[in-house]
Formats: sequence, structure tokens, C-alpha cells
Amino acid sequence: VKIATIVGARPQFIKAAALTRRIRGDFAGLIDEVLVHSGQHYDEEMSAVFFKELDIPQPSYNLGVGSASHASQTAMIMERSEKVLREIKPDAVVVYGDTNTTLAGALAAAKIHIPVAHIEAGLRSFNRSMPEEINRIVCDHVSTWLFPPTQTGLENLIHEGFSDKNKLPATPDSPWVVTVGDVMYDNALHYSSGKSSGTGLPGRFGLEGKDYVLCTLHRDHNTDDPGRLNAIFRCLDHISRDFMIPVLIPLHPRTRKMMNELLEKDLASTLAGNPMMIMAPPLSYLEMIVAEKGARLIITDSGGVQKEAYFFRKPCLVLRAETEWTELVEAGAAMLVDADQEKILQAFQQYYKRPPEHFTGLFGDGDASGAICRVLSSGKF
Ligand code: UD1
Ligand code: UDP
Repeated sequence: VKIATIVGARPQFIKAAALTRRIRGDFAGLIDEVLVHSGQHYDEEMSAVFFKELDIPQPSYNLGVGSASHASQTAMIMERSEKVLREIKPDAVVVYGDTNTTLAGALAAAKIHIPVAHIEAGLRSFNRSMPEEINRIVCDHVSTWLFPPTQTGLENLIHEGFSDKNKLPATPDSPWVVTVGDVMYDNALHYSSGKSSGTGLPGRFGLEGKDYVLCTLHRDHNTDDPGRLNAIFRCLDHISRDFMIPVLIPLHPRTRKMMNELLEKDLASTLAGNPMMIMAPPLSYLEMIVAEKGARLIITDSGGVQKEAYFFRKPCLVLRAETEWTELVEAGAAMLVDADQEKILQAFQQYYKRPPEHFTGLFGDGDASGAICRVLSSGKF
């Protein structure tokens, strides 16, 4: 079976690493994969570093779209991927998650009758003002194979009219829904047990043997809204001073840019003068894993980092009003604190004093990639 995998943003390189590893392992000879990079993320530390570190084959095509408005970026990816898909002639196209690359790759393929496999299907935050929610919904509804990572993902799909009582062959009018677990959990197990090139990380930031908080922030809802951005950074500054705990923040390029534009002057100089606030460039995945495992607590608006906090048994404050990973909140492992100063400080105090204890199950058996490969290699398209 020949598949074309379309990736373009940081979390997709990481997710693709899990499947690619399986394809080149047990499924070599059964699945032939051609990688297409949309170019949505392009800085060395947002793209190339993951291919090198996670041993992902170089993409056969880079569509080079770069940054642009939602419509322009999506349109460019659609137009350019249609062209390369006609050249590759795959049996199926694989897309991950909920970015503009996901949406554009899925639409381009579906329109030229190439069936789409969506990994991380069925997730819903029920907030359609987030671009990711639109991307997820549309992508699911043009997909032929849907791979929800969780039970909630499956239930959301059933609620939207999908069935998990599949009949072969799968077709766009009669899609297959298979709950397989989470490929990011596969990775967390795989990379945290082996040798890690991220082990020098705590020393690099003077954090060896110390308690610290890890924070990531990049959703436009937070970064592009001056009220929210300032509230979050004021809170982080407070936490570092009140609890005498360093806060390590690997900055997404979007966040760095918006901080320069939107942070109030007094706050910008307070942050610059606070040695406990450690602003870093984006980390590599292996560094990130080490940073997560060493943290006392994680504060984030990232989908992936919320889950990794759970995988590594760290309490997590989610800087959003809702999450598509609802089971983390239900399990008591994460709290939704929005950009609300009071909620953030209260939740921080609560987890700091009494961290949650239950961190088991929810994301499969650690071989979601194997389950996906088994379906894709069955060839019953
Ligand atoms: C995108 C996804 C988001 C995902 C995130 C993962 C969409 C709509 N959003 O958000 O779902 O969580 O990736 O990280 O697809 N930039 C650089 N260098 C880069 C990439 C981006 O400087 O290599 C800057 C540019 O100023 C760009 C901005 O970051 O305009 C935003 O990039 P974009 O890819 O549009 O969205 P993300 O916020 O990264
Ligand atoms: N990540 C990373 N370096 C960083 C920040 C995040 O390698 O500096 C990894 C993180 O460990 C997770 C993934 O990127 O595996 C999450 O991606 P991101 O937060 O960009 O997007 P989201 O998951 O919200 O779509």
C-alpha cells in the first residue's frame, strides 16, 4: 500500500515519527510512505531539528508555503499538494491533528478521490472560534479512515453520525472508525526509555536539581489578545516570585513576536529584570521531554503538552476555557484556568500543595502506530 503523509507543523513531525518508525520496522514491504512537508513551519528549531533528532526520513516534497493568513495558507497548501498527489498517486493520504496543513491536505486529497486517513480524529473543544476546531470537523467529515485516540473522540464521532460498526471496504461514504490510542503516547514511551540527547537541558538553564515550572504558550487566542497575553505573563511573574520557583518558557516564534508587540511596558521590564523567568528558544523534542519530566508543574495552552504532562505524571494548568482532551480534566490531572489571574493562582497553589495522583490509562497501550499500520496495510480499500 502506498501512502502519502502530509505534515507541516511541529506537532505533526513528532506524531509522524511514531508511524514512520513502525512503517520502516515491522511494516516494511507492506506500506510504502512518501512524506510531503507543507512548509507551514520552517525555522530550523520548528522543523528541521525534529527530522534529525527523531530520525524521520527527509520529505520527498516541500511545498514551501510559509506563514500567511488562514485562507491563503490553506489555499496554497491545497493547490500545491494536489499537484504532488497527482504525481505520487498514493492509495491513501495520511494527515495528523488539526492544523491548516491537516485541513488543506485532506481537502485536496478527497477532491481528487484519494481516500484520507485522519490520525487524532474526533477531538472536539466545542469552540468554533478556534481555527483548529474548524480544521478538525471538516477533516473528519472528508476522511475515509478515522483514528480517534480516545473514547471521547469516538463518542464525538458517533454523535456526528459516524459508526464504529464498520463494513469493508471503507469508502468516503462508508468510513472506518477505529479507536487506536494516541501516537504521542507511543513516542513518550519510546523516547523516554532510551538514551536522550536532551539530558543536558536542566544544566543549560541553571535548573539542575531544582524545582521549576515549565510553560508553553502559542494559541492565537492567547498570544494575539493583549488582555490575555498580559494577564498570563503577569501571573507567571507572580508565581515565580511568590513561590520562589523558576519558570522555564520555550517561546514559540509567534509568542515571541506578539510579546514584543503587545506586552505592557512595565510588565516587559519586570520580566526582563526577573531572573526566575527563563525565556528560551523552542526546544527540541528530546529536550522538551527532559524539561517535562523534570518540572514540578506544567502550564500550557498546547494540546500535545497537556497530554505529555499526563504521560509524565505532572499536574497541568491549561490556559484555556475548554479543552478537546476532556478526560485529563475529568481525571483531575489538569485544570482549566483560562487566562484568569485568580483561577491560575488558585489552581497553582492547589496542585503545588497537593499534586494529583491518578495518571493511568486513557491513551491506549503505547502502540497506536502499530494499530494504524495494521488497518492501512490491510489493503482493503
Ligand atoms: C500552528 C497551528 C496550531 C498548532 C501549532 C503548533 C494552524 C491554524 N495552527 O499554529 O494548531 O498548535 O501550529 O505549533 O494551523 N512562525 C515563525 N517560524 C516558523 C513558524 C511560524 O516565525 O517556523 C511565526 C510566523 O510569524 C507565523 C506565526 O509564527 O505567522 C504563526 O505560525 P502558524 O503556522 O500560522 O501558526 P501557529 O501559531 O504556529
Ligand atoms: N514541543 C517541542 N519543543 C517546544 C515546545 C513543544 O518539541 O519548545 C513539542 C511538545 O513536546 C509536543 C509538541 O511539540 O510533543 C506539541 O506541539 P505544539 O505545542 O507546538 O502544538 P499543539 O500540540 O498545541 O498543536
